[in-house]
Amino acid sequence: MTDLVTRVRELLPSVRADLEELVRIESVWADPARRPEVYRSAELTAKLLRHAGFGDVRTVESGGAPAVIARHPAPEGAPTVLLYAHHDVQPEGDPGQWHSAPFEPTERDGRLYGRGTADDKAGIATHLAAFRALGPNPPVGVTVFVEGEEESGSPSLPALLNEHRDLLAADVIVIADSDNWSTDIPALTVSLRGLADCVVEVATLDHGLHSGLWGGVVPDALSVLVRLLASLHDDDGNVAVQGLHEAKAAEVEFSEERVRADSGLLDGVRQIGSGPVVQRMWARPAITVIGIDTTPIDKASNTLVPRARAKVSMRVAPGGDARAHLEALTRHLQDHAPWGAQVTVTPGDVGQPYAIDARGPVYDAARAAFKTAWGREPIDMGMGGSIPFIAEFAAAFPDAEILVTGVEDPGTQAHSINESLHLGVLERAATSEALFLEALGRGPS
Ligand code: BES
Ligand code: MN
Ligand code: MN
Repeated sequence: MTDLVTRVRELLPSVRADLEELVRIESVWADPARRPEVYRSAELTAKLLRHAGFGDVRTVESGGAPAVIARHPAPEGAPTVLLYAHHDVQPEGDPGQWHSAPFEPTERDGRLYGRGTADDKAGIATHLAAFRALGPNPPVGVTVFVEGEEESGSPSLPALLNEHRDLLAADVIVIADSDNWSTDIPALTVSLRGLADCVVEVATLDHGLHSGLWGGVVPDALSVLVRLLASLHDDDGNVAVQGLHEAKAAEVEFSEERVRADSGLLDGVRQIGSGPVVQRMWARPAITVIGIDTTPIDKASNTLVPRARAKVSMRVAPGGDARAHLEALTRHLQDHAPWGAQVTVTPGDVGQPYAIDARGPVYDAARAAFKTAWGREPIDMGMGGSIPFIAEFAAAFPDAEILVTGVEDPGTQAHSINESLHLGVLERAATSEALFLEALGRGPS
C-alpha cells in the first residue's frame, strides 16, 4: 500500500509533463475555429494512454467531439472500473486578465496555472498516474473514458454510450471532475445540481422610436426585460418561480465568511437567499442571467429599444426534473410580462441533477483510500455545478456504483481567468485513486 504512495510520488514529474502537454492544446469545443485542437487533444490523450500501458486504445465519435476509450482487461473474477475525465475546456476569456498565458502551463506557489490544468485535464493526469502506479498487472479491469464535449453539455454522449456500450460497461465508475473541500481535505461529491436554460425575448414596438417623442407613453423593450428578469427573485434574492424542487443538502457547516472569501464577493455586497449556505448552494434551484443582447452603450442614441433578449440559466436541485423546471421557468416568464409586452421563450439545454447514496463496501474502500492518501477521510459534499451525463451513465449502467471525485479545490477558479491546479492535490488525488483500485482488486473486505 505504501508502495503505491511512493510510486505515485515518483511518477508525478512525468505525469505533470503529460498534463502540461495537454494544457498547451486549446481544446475549446465550443469555439468552431478550435475544433481541430480538440482532435489534437484526443490524439494526445490516446497516445498518453497507450504509453501508460493500455493495450486497446481508440478514438471514437458519434456526431460530436472525439472521445477516447482505453481498456485493460480485468483479471479473472475481478471487477472493471471505468475512469472518466474530459479533455475539452472552457474558453479562456480575456487573456489580458491572466497573469500568465492561458495555454502556457506555469507554476506559481505550488499551483499550476492554465486553462484546463484542473477542469479537467487534471482528471486525465490522475487516471494516468493511478494506472501507471499499479504496474503492468493491475488487479482490476480498467477502462478510461475521456470525453471531448463536456463543457458543451455532452450532446452526443447518449449516442456514444449506445454505440460503445460493451466497451464502457463497468462495475464501478469514477468521475474525476469535481471539487475538494480544501487543498488538505478531500471530498466525495454526493449530489450535483442539474441545469436548464433558455433565451427570453421581449418586444414592445415594431421599430425603434424617438425617445423624446414617445418616451413616457410607450415602453421600451429593455426596461420591460429588466422588470421581467427582476421578477425571477424576491427582495431577499430567493428564487420566485413557483413549482420548483428543493432537496436536503448534506449536513456540513459552510460559513458565510467562507462564501465571502472563496467567491471574492466585493465589500458591502450581501449574499442572496435565506437559509443555510449549503442548502442554497447545493439543494435549491438558482437562477442567473448569463447574457443579454441589446443596444451597446457605444451605439446608444435617444431611441426606445424595440426588442431585447437575455439568456437565463437555472440550476435544478437533486431530485428535480430539469425539463419540468424549464417549463416552470418558461411559464413564469410568459406570465410576468410587464405592460402586456410580447414575450418569446426559446428553450435551451437541459441536464439532469444527480444524487448518490454513498454507502456500502465500494464507498468504504474509497473512504479508506482517501484516508491513507490525504491523512483524513473525505467530506460528503454536495455540488452546485452540474455533470449532466452522470444521470445518463447511471441509466445506462444501473448496477454500477458511481463515485464522483476530483482534482479541483476552492482556489481553482474553473471557467474563470487564472484557473489553476494545486499540485499537492493532484498527487493526493492520484494516490487515492491508485489505492482505491488496488483495494477493489482485493475484493470486499
Ligand atoms: N467540472 C465541472 C462540474 C463541476 C463544477 C463539478 C464545480 C464540481 C464543481 C464541469 O466541467 C462543468 O463545468 N459542468 C457544466 C455543465 C454544463 C456545461 C452542461 C456546469 O456545471 O456549468
Ligand atoms: Mn469539468
Ligand atoms: Mn467545467
